[in-house]
This record gives sequence, C-alpha cells and structure tokens, in this order.
Amino acid sequence: MKKRVTDLRVVSNARINEKHFLLGIAAEGCGEIVPGQFVEVLVRGSQDVFLRRPFSVCDTDPEAGIFYLLIKEVGPGSRLLGGLRPGETVNVMYPLGHGYTLPPSGPVLMIGGGYGIAPMRLLGRRLKAHGITADTLIGGRSASDILLADAFTDFGQVFMATEDGSLGHQGLLTTHPAIQVNGNPYTRFYACGPMGMLKAVSEIASTVKVDCEVSLENTMACGFGVCLSCITGTTTGNRCVCTDGPVFNSTELLWQTSV
Ligand SMILES: Cc1cc2nc3c(=O)[nH]c(=O)nc-3n(C[C@H](O)[C@H](O)[C@H](O)COP(=O)(O)OP(=O)(O)OC[C@H]3O[C@@H](n4cnc5c(N)ncnc54)[C@H](O)[C@@H]3O)c2cc1C
Ligand code: FES
Repeated sequence: MKKRVTDLRVVSNARINEKHFLLGIAAEGCGEIVPGQFVEVLVRGSQDVFLRRPFSVCDTDPEAGIFYLLIKEVGPGSRLLGGLRPGETVNVMYPLGHGYTLPPSGPVLMIGGGYGIAPMRLLGRRLKAHGITADTLIGGRSASDILLADAFTDFGQVFMATEDGSLGHQGLLTTHPAIQVNGNPYTRFYACGPMGMLKAVSEIASTVKVDCEVSLENTMACGFGVCLSCITGTTTGNRCVCTDGPVFNSTELLWQTSV
C-alpha cells in the first residue's frame, strides 16, 4: 500500500484502563495494512511534542474503513492522544515499515509484552484467514498490563503471565510453560515488547529451533529512513528500524538498541 500523510477522523476512543486506550481512526485502504506495520501520528496541542509518535496498527476493520491503535500513556504525546474525541482529526503518516510474514504452516505463538500485544490482533486475524492456529502469550508486570486478552480467543489458546502473579502464571512471560523448551509445538514465534523480552524470546527460539520474528521499537523521529535515529545493528550491517523493520527475523539482529 502506498504511503500517505493525511488528516484522518477519530471515530472512537475507548478507555481500557487508567493507562491504556484504543483509538479508532477512519482511513481509506486500511485493509491493505500488513500486521506489524505502524503509523506516525502528529500530536497537536503541545509545543513540547513536535516529533510524530509511532504506534503499531493493532487492528483494522476494512469494511468500516477503520484502523485501531492500542496506546499506553507514557508521556505528553500519548497523553494528548488519549484526550482525542470522536469527530476530531489527527494527521497520520501510514502505513510505515515492513510487517510480519505469514508462515507456510502452524500452529504459531504470538507473544506480546504490555502494549507489545498491539500488532498481534491484526496478525491473528490474518493468520486465521489463512487457516493457521495462533496461540497468544501476553505478559506484563501486573494484571493492568494484560491487554485485550479476550480479543485473542478466536485464534487459539490465550496464556497470560504477570510478574506479580496478579493474573495467570507468576513470572516473566519467558518462564511460561507455553514457551518453554519441552514439547514445543510451534512453527514460529511472533514477538513484540521490550528489548530484553525480545532477546529472551529469541534465545528460546534458537534453542527450540523455531523461526522467530520480532518487532523492534527503537526511538524514532522521521519514520521514513532519513534521520537515522532508529538504526539497529544486524548481520548485514546497520539498518533503519523504520524502513527495514520494525519486524526482523531474530537471527538477523545483533541485539543492540543503537550502534
Ligand atoms: C515502531 C513502533 C511501534 C510502537 N507501537 C506502540 C503501540 O502500539 N502502542 C504504544 O503505546 N506505544 C507504541 N510505541 C511506543 C510509542 O511510540 C511511545 O510510547 C511514544 O512515542 C511516547 O510518546 P510520549 O510523547 O507519550 O512520551 P515521551 O515523552 O516521548 O516518552 C516518555 C517515556 O517513554 C519512553 N519512550 C518513548 N518512545 C519510546 C519507544 N519508542 N520505545 C521505548 N520507550 C520509549 C521515553 O524514553 C520516556 O521514558 C511504538 C514505538 C515504535 C518505534
Ligand atoms: S526514524 Fe528516521 S531513519 Fe528511522
């Protein structure tokens, strides 16, 4: 799908909990967005937030012409977006980057840490359309970080892990039995979340010899390969996460946030 920069109408803003919300945005051609691709949103209303903010596309409803962003409020930009109301407009550059690829067969395991679960909703939908079962493993510090769990039951089993044990398995998601080495049934892991989690998932994938695609969230400025703020080291040299990624095969990465 050709990249575009345009004003789009907010159609919904649903609060999930104190820190997270799901923003629905009307957008032509959103059915062509590949899972794992992202958008860059211009935040209006603050002189402190002049760079666009990147967010993964969480889901699309092509018939209604709407895509959804799952956003955690962490600073001024995301907080201002949290205050958007239906009918207001946002300027969005989309779709950006390269997304996840589909495997020849399943089942697969989709792994999301905190708001890293965002791209898995659209991915699960596409996998289902291709007849591939996708289990989901969602992890976070506590129950309030486990987002949209009910939205994944259509695709396969849903596993949860929290560090404080307030929901699901107690511990890091990488200690959950679903991703541990004994009897791994999966053909591929798909992961998105904090860098430490992605690295740990990648190490498990390598041990169990499962293909693994991870989505990186390096700090970005331009979003289209010009500023070089998002560079990551790979086996084929330094690459821009915004244009060559954000999704990479885990074996390509040198696991540095910047070089
Ligand atoms: C490709 C990509 C996809 C993303 N998808 C999502 C998503 O689906 N949902 C979501 O809530 N967020 C997502 N993010 C992160 C999101 O872009 C940042 O949280 C947002 O830009 C913060 O803006 P802010 O003005 O609210 O906070 P800022 O004031 O910019 O930052 C507040 C705090 O968050 C940290 N931070 C800022 N940007 C990032 C980042 N990219 N990675 C890690 N820490 C960061 C800062 O270091 C600071 O500590 C994504 C980032 C990238 C690069
Ligand atoms: S964000 Fe500017 S090059 Fe990637």
